[in-house]
Amino acid sequence: MTRPSFPPSNAFHYEDGVLHCEDVPLTDLADEEGPTWVYSARVIDESFAAVDEAMDFAPHLVAYAIKANGNLAILARLAKAGAGADIVSEGELRRALRAGIPADRIVWSGVGKRDRELEVAAAAGLRAIHIECLEELDLLEEFGSTEAPVRVALRINPDVDAGSHPYFATGLHSTKFGLELEVARELLPRLVKSERVRLEGVACHVGSQLDSTLPLREATRLLAEFARECLDAGAPLRSIDPGGGWPMAYGGEQMPFPAHREFGAAIEAGIADAGMQGAGLEVVTEPGRALVGDAGILLVRVLAEKRQGGRRFVIVDGAMTELVRPALYGAHHAVMPVMQHEGEWSAADVVGPVCESGDFLAQGRPLPPVKRGDLLAIRGAGAYGREMSSTYNGRPAAREILVDGATTRTVRRRASIASLWAQEEM
Ligand SMILES: Cc1ncc(COP(=O)(O)O)c(C=O)c1O
Repeated sequence: MTRPSFPPSNAFHYEDGVLHCEDVPLTDLADEEGPTWVYSARVIDESFAAVDEAMDFAPHLVAYAIKANGNLAILARLAKAGAGADIVSEGELRRALRAGIPADRIVWSGVGKRDRELEVAAAAGLRAIHIECLEELDLLEEFGSTEAPVRVALRINPDVDAGSHPYFATGLHSTKFGLELEVARELLPRLVKSERVRLEGVACHVGSQLDSTLPLREATRLLAEFARECLDAGAPLRSIDPGGGWPMAYGGEQMPFPAHREFGAAIEAGIADAGMQGAGLEVVTEPGRALVGDAGILLVRVLAEKRQGGRRFVIVDGAMTELVRPALYGAHHAVMPVMQHEGEWSAADVVGPVCESGDFLAQGRPLPPVKRGDLLAIRGAGAYGREMSSTYNGRPAAREILVDGATTRTVRRRASIASLWAQEEM
């Protein structure tokens, strides 16, 4: 089997046969206690700059979808670069504020918000709370006041097919997200009259990991047309937010993804298609994985190799409990040996110690011969990795390390075994 080509990276590269993150050999970052997340500060900085530049066609806010990776060190870094946040819970709100992201740069998109969450969000003075159901509008009118009206956006479900994995598609009427255009339209007169709620934006999100810009352009056009209706109805509209979906290369893609500048150009074109380019609206975008996905790897250690039923299993100390994406979506993550090998590469399933046959990090992937103790890097793991992890099978959360040039910092310690039952009573 031939050696695969790995997605290019400005951080993860071989030097003297050892895989490095920036200037640090990954062999220096592994410990014997379990897997480790490693993030490159350089890639985070460069990714933010690339998205920011792609949005230069208009006044804009890059509201990082912190569900992708909410580590405080990453948030603080992005906050300094000028990022805002797209959040989905009170936990994420507190996290974003704690990391120094001002409320005026935070938007809350989420299909269900508890009373308390709406009250807290209203009191915090967020840039926009995205209304996704009538109940939310009722409550926000209670929590707002005439002196400090709550700033809201209507999240539309544009009924546009993102063409990505069905679990990533959020812009179709058959999904739970947003409001059908007709329903949103019916709310307009009430919103315009309201003294406690101020309609400042329109929003949508067609889906994640978009491999074509066409759905985004179409959704943005519909959104911009609706923005005009809102303005015509007398709403003090300030912004238009076509959501996230900026893709990243995981390796194994069938075709190349649109580059960031094409993605930004599609938003610009969608606004122009609606004839709204001169309307002076600020454009909000909510990238998640595109800012942090490529920046991270999951560093795992080989525990064993065995052949069974005609397959080659490489058993490692990382599992679906750390990176659930392969088990959940059949997601592809490139697997790189940390030490370069001369031996013959052959197809292997990289599996974890969890008691589920679905516990795999990669299947049928070329790997060189490995032995117990060797390290592997699971690429593209900076987004929806640590955030989606669990403690299933009594596995404490792995530690996280941020690399910046030659310096390394542990930005989350490994959770202790005792933390597994810390909230329990006997
Ligand atoms: C409303 C919203 N915005 C942004 C994102 C970020 O998506 P991505 O990481 O693919 O950019 C998501 C992802 O679920 C989302 O639901």
